Amino acid sequence: MNTKVELLDEKNIDEKILKQAGYVIREGGLVAFPTETVYGLGANALDANAVKKIFGAKGRPQDNPLIVHISDIKEIYKLVKFIPEAAEKFMNEFWPGPMTIILPKTDLIPDVTSAGLSSIGIRMPSNIIANHFIKAAGVPIAAPSANISGRPSPTDVERCIEDLNGKVDWIIGGGMSEFGVESTVIDCTVEPSCVLRPGRITLEMLRKIEPNIYIDPAVMRKPSRDLKPKAPGMKYRHYAPKAKVKIVQGDLKKTIAKISEMVQNYIDEGKKVGIMATDETKEHYKKGFVISLGSRKNMVEISKNLFETLRSFDDENIDIVISEAFEEQGIGIAVMNRLQKSAAFDITEV
Ligand code: TXA
Ligand code: MG
Repeated sequence: MNTKVELLDEKNIDEKILKQAGYVIREGGLVAFPTETVYGLGANALDANAVKKIFGAKGRPQDNPLIVHISDIKEIYKLVKFIPEAAEKFMNEFWPGPMTIILPKTDLIPDVTSAGLSSIGIRMPSNIIANHFIKAAGVPIAAPSANISGRPSPTDVERCIEDLNGKVDWIIGGGMSEFGVESTVIDCTVEPSCVLRPGRITLEMLRKIEPNIYIDPAVMRKPSRDLKPKAPGMKYRHYAPKAKVKIVQGDLKKTIAKISEMVQNYIDEGKKVGIMATDETKEHYKKGFVISLGSRKNMVEISKNLFETLRSFDDENIDIVISEAFEEQGIGIAVMNRLQKSAAFDITEV
């Protein structure tokens, strides 16, 4: 398949291109597009055959449901059976934005889109290109992250091209994603609501609206037989670059010492080692290929750079990436969740 790539400018959107891309969606095609979290791979959410193509292009397990994207709050009413009060409040407060809410679905949504579940995740992105694209399509758009299943989500158009060129009809570029981690997923079919995937909309922000909301305990722990995450997608090895990822967690000074020791050992074994550091620590590493995620004082910057940094170690053919850890608080919960999964929970405590 010949993939058409179109680069758009958020400040000066070419509506003619979005009109054509919208037509591709209505005709049952696949279009990757930017959002404020990560790039998405879109298809008409109401067209079972189009949605099936998403699973094929990504190599995604069939039991992993998709998120349906809308451009106006009004569009939700035909997609879900009812909206509890808490969900209504979350929508009013955080849409458009990086939040997905899970609600009981109507029959309008085919079973492939929800992977056979009776519920569906709905999200209204704030990214202006995404918003105009969904409007131009005139149908709700089912879109997982636009990566090959298991790889870190793409936060820039080059990474979409890397993963999806030749597998999709169109790729729309629109600069680097603002937040870099996927939306906060909230299950609103239960009471109190439950966070199935942490993101930029933090637990603290959600608790201001629903004080009893909590994070699914399986989110921050290694999945086991009795601890299965409620979001099917969270049980898979995920966000993994080709390099093996390891995390060192604890006091920062001890972390630097431990990482330096591990780097030396791997170099002695003839391995190419990368270090995922921060502005505060990067000067302390004397060996290894060091990339800083940004300042520890700015967790939004760190979340924005996380997936791109993981992928850039692959560009250097690094064998092993050792990462520092972050405090599990605020956006740090989302960052640590993605990092732990990319490392398949290989964590050394110091
Ligand atoms: O920020 C985002 O949400 C991005 C952009 C493109 O919008 N999309 C995204 O989609 O991250 P995806 O498919 O990569 O992740 C969706 C997550 C998966 O973990 C999936 O299992 C969960 O949401 N999910 C979707 N529908 C669900 C449902 N009905 N019940 C439980 N979990 C659900
Ligand atoms: Mg994904």
